[in-house]
Amino acid sequence: MDNWTRRDVVKTGLAASLGAWAMPGRIPDGQPAGDPAERAAAGDAPAAAARERLLLDFGWRFHLGHADDPLQDFGYGGDRAQEFSEYGKTGEFMREPSKPDFDVSGWREVDLPHDWVVELPFENAAPLYNQGFKPVGRGYPATSIGWYRRSFDLPASDHGRRLSLEFDGVFRDCLVALNGVYLGRNLSGYAPFRFDITDLANYGGANVLLVRCDATEHEGWFYEGAGIYRHAWLVKTAPVHVPQWGTFVASEVAGGAATLTVTTQVENEGGEAPVCRVRSVVTDPAGRVVATAATAPARLAAWSGREQTQRLTVRAPELWSVETPRLYRLTTVVEAGGAEVDRTETTFGIRTLRFDPDRGFFLNGERVELKGTCNHQDHAGVGSALPDALQAYRVQRLKDMGSNAYRTSHNPPTAELLDACDRLGMLVLDENRMMSPSEEGLSQFSRLIRRDRNHPCVFAWSIGNEEWFVQGAERGALIAAAMKRLARRLDPTRLVTEAMNGDWGKGLSDVVDIQGFNYFPGDIDAYHRDHPHQPTMGTETASTVSTRGIYANDPARGYLSAYDANFPPWAATAERWWSYFDQRPFLAGGFAWTGFDYRGEPTPYQWPCISSHFGILDTCGFAKDNFYYYQAWWGSEPVLHLFPHWNWAGKEGQEIEVWVHSNLERVELFLNGTSLGAQDVRCDTHLMWKVPYAPGSLEARGSRGGQVVLTAKRETTGAPARLLLAADREAVAADGEDAAVVAVTVVDAQGREVPVADALVTFQVSGPARLIGVGNGDPSSHESDKDASRRAFNGRCVAIVQATKQTGEIRVEGTAPGLAPGVAMIQAAGSARPAVP
Ligand code: GAL
Repeated sequence: MDNWTRRDVVKTGLAASLGAWAMPGRIPDGQPAGDPAERAAAGDAPAAAARERLLLDFGWRFHLGHADDPLQDFGYGGDRAQEFSEYGKTGEFMREPSKPDFDVSGWREVDLPHDWVVELPFENAAPLYNQGFKPVGRGYPATSIGWYRRSFDLPASDHGRRLSLEFDGVFRDCLVALNGVYLGRNLSGYAPFRFDITDLANYGGANVLLVRCDATEHEGWFYEGAGIYRHAWLVKTAPVHVPQWGTFVASEVAGGAATLTVTTQVENEGGEAPVCRVRSVVTDPAGRVVATAATAPARLAAWSGREQTQRLTVRAPELWSVETPRLYRLTTVVEAGGAEVDRTETTFGIRTLRFDPDRGFFLNGERVELKGTCNHQDHAGVGSALPDALQAYRVQRLKDMGSNAYRTSHNPPTAELLDACDRLGMLVLDENRMMSPSEEGLSQFSRLIRRDRNHPCVFAWSIGNEEWFVQGAERGALIAAAMKRLARRLDPTRLVTEAMNGDWGKGLSDVVDIQGFNYFPGDIDAYHRDHPHQPTMGTETASTVSTRGIYANDPARGYLSAYDANFPPWAATAERWWSYFDQRPFLAGGFAWTGFDYRGEPTPYQWPCISSHFGILDTCGFAKDNFYYYQAWWGSEPVLHLFPHWNWAGKEGQEIEVWVHSNLERVELFLNGTSLGAQDVRCDTHLMWKVPYAPGSLEARGSRGGQVVLTAKRETTGAPARLLLAADREAVAADGEDAAVVAVTVVDAQGREVPVADALVTFQVSGPARLIGVGNGDPSSHESDKDASRRAFNGRCVAIVQATKQTGEIRVEGTAPGLAPGVAMIQAAGSARPAVP
């Protein structure tokens, strides 16, 4: 699927024979450039847009197929008895549903991103453990094949342009056909892919696009969902154009200036051989043009491609960092025959990365301890089909915790996650799905790198995770070497690691630039002593398990106490791993497993538990108590968090462990006004008092330099009285995509959160929005994520609301029997991005 891997050879040869073209240029900072193209790039004047990138998310039809029965699978694979099979003649692939007049009335209307698995009911069967007890896989043929159909018109005027379809992620093993012609197949559900459709499209007429997804096999041991769960695009360009991922900006910073090395590929998919040139215009975070370059005009042979490199200088660059995530923009203008024929935008950042074997990781010359979390990609309410806004929501929640790094375990993420990390300042360890030196394996890895290498957030490539069949052996070393060679060729600016749970010092350990440690199966100090020249980091650690708002393990219901106490044999508490890493400057930091709970792997339980407990936040993004441990020791603000709640009717007189997570100097605890003593805070640890329960008010007073800086209270509340609704955003874009997370808190008559409330909340959305999912973070809830109702779990639940394309006021109301309702209002304004009509 990766056109580039095969064509690179040709390109490299061409570029070499054409010699160096680059004509670097620079204009004074902040001054408008003289050339109209530069002015247009800086936003001064619009230029003719030969390129269109149209969102292909809206207006699909969906139907489940069948993995075992062609009759229930729209005839697919059922034609062997006839003269031609489905593959027999061009134009008859997926014949029936490809017909323009095929009756779609039985197919549901869906918009992308879409995950059909999250819509399925839960099923108690042991093989479904990893996938969150959702019925997908070989044993579930009736719910493991999904068909998507979209018809669209193309104007006759598109004739002569190059047209392609881009899919950011389809789970999985999909077959794609346009107008009955086989376009191709893509295996991995995490690898983006594209198909050129120029020669198959109907110009001035209707086109039928079909995607058949086969999720009978899994790629991971965690919930993966199924369907076209990321964006799809229709891209139109002139014959001479920049191909997908055809630009790469690398920067070096020295002497107060940045040298940008801009590599641009230009493809000529046409029969003419025009004189072409590439103009590169760089704008700073304020949108001012700060550097330009143009190649010398040269003829580009018909049906050929070329790669060329330009060097540009940016004086006094504003560096990208986690605190100040400044973004620059490269506008690439391609001219052919004297006219502009293509224009693309590449967002990038200027920053330096360095790993030191003794001192860890340096960003822009300063040591940055990686305070990271690993994450899968599913979320409450939507499964793996996240609106872009939810990516940003999740990254922001992790930032709020003081985290500065994100590992995309164990697969290439969606591009919008990286956009959010670029914008919000979150470093990313970008991970490949599976180690492999095969053409398919390297193609997947190369797509990851080519797509992601301009993102300043990405600081290293992870070639894989816990590949215990090969990691300690020579075979693992050889595979890793093949992957590292590819990484270096496509991106000489970043190092490579693998997340190894053992075999340290063996096999591929010698190949990777950074030794990744998963957990503690070996002696990290000894490893460092024996490998003094290799940087190291904790690629995966913690795996602390806890359930929000629960303070005693409850195997029957599948809950774990939220004290920092429970972990599987290979894992550790938050306090144990972080204090260990924090004391060792040679370690670049580490990544806790996981930031958010995810479906599947409900360790240490089985059914009825369906979600993991590893998250520091639950599946909705509500903080568990450990969130505040990390916030105290990762963040920069004073923290004082007191728990558990103080609603323990029936436990009067019994001793309760009261914990405090704080980074202040000293904390004094009071029960109903009586001091229970003060304790000094020690770095990277928590405080604990044993308190005989009496209802009333528990209060912690945290001080610094003898002054009380923060107080925290837990009060025995009254009965639930009403619902409080709060949206994470006051305004959303009226673009059919944007989404808000509306959190519900059940409160008593005095407005205090009732931490044990389980009211059944029903949502009503009015105005230009729709409800796309609900959740409550209960790892054992079998309620549907697609219902209009959800029970509160320990006082809370959420509704995820998505804007339509109409502007106006969105009203989200929550009601529950016997409680006063709550309302959240959100404004929807602005317009949608260009989409396929
Ligand atoms: C790790 C693995 C993760 C997850 C975790 C649970 O070994 O890499 O994917 O399974 O264990 O603790």
